[in-house]
Amino acid sequence: MRKPYIAGNWKMNLDRASGTALAKALADAVSDDSVEVAVAPPFVYLAAVAEAVKGSSVRVGGQNMYHEASGAFTGEVSAAMLLDVGCDFVILGHSERRHVLGETDEEINRKVHAALAAGLDVILCVGETQAERESGSTEAVVKRHMTQGLAGVTAEQMARVTIAYEPVWAIGTGLTATPEQAGEVHQYTRGLLSGLYGSEVAETTRIQYGGSVKPSNAAELLAVPDIDGCLVGGASLKPDQFLPIIEAAKSLVS
Ligand code: PGA
Repeated sequence: MRKPYIAGNWKMNLDRASGTALAKALADAVSDDSVEVAVAPPFVYLAAVAEAVKGSSVRVGGQNMYHEASGAFTGEVSAAMLLDVGCDFVILGHSERRHVLGETDEEINRKVHAALAAGLDVILCVGETQAERESGSTEAVVKRHMTQGLAGVTAEQMARVTIAYEPVWAIGTGLTATPEQAGEVHQYTRGLLSGLYGSEVAETTRIQYGGSVKPSNAAELLAVPDIDGCLVGGASLKPDQFLPIIEAAKSLVS
């Protein structure tokens, strides 16, 4: 059984006071580790949030990083820096990085390697735009994101990789993929993992769903066999929205 993994991607939201208050509320509420819970605050609040959740099982991660270890890369942050401020994972290839900030699969792959080599776990985001879905290329896009994003990653390293399927048309739009739509792509993605790494890796790798997850739809999405958790944006910014999503995951394992 894959342990459900609920991660909150704060994006460019909250401030030091509201972020640490949210982190403390999560740390107090997450009393057991039947569900893995994580938050990804903006870089500048990582240390404060890591301090706020200290002693709890809530994990803290970056929303992005640069693939080089150090040097003249103005504005960038390395894997070692994320580790240094208390992160143990990083989100890579988020659709906003791909589509707003122009990251390519090749760049994302370099980041995946740098993160894993430094000791960070990775959440690799994959998913199609609305136009890609409408033109029937959802599977081709997910396949490209998976094969190019994971190029050169070993089966052993996959123990530290989570995939997040996030249809771009469902992110921040209020449109959620139906459990059937999401389930189809999750099943396809697990099949890709099996082809790339064999059945054991395919069975143990977690695949999160992301895109307008909220308390009212989390349970039905999480009930889909190949959906192993959620990557939550907007609804991760308030305890009264995020905690019920964690509860929905808990009720499936208890
Ligand atoms: P959303 O964002 O939950 O606000 O749609 C999800 C994500 O981008 O990870």
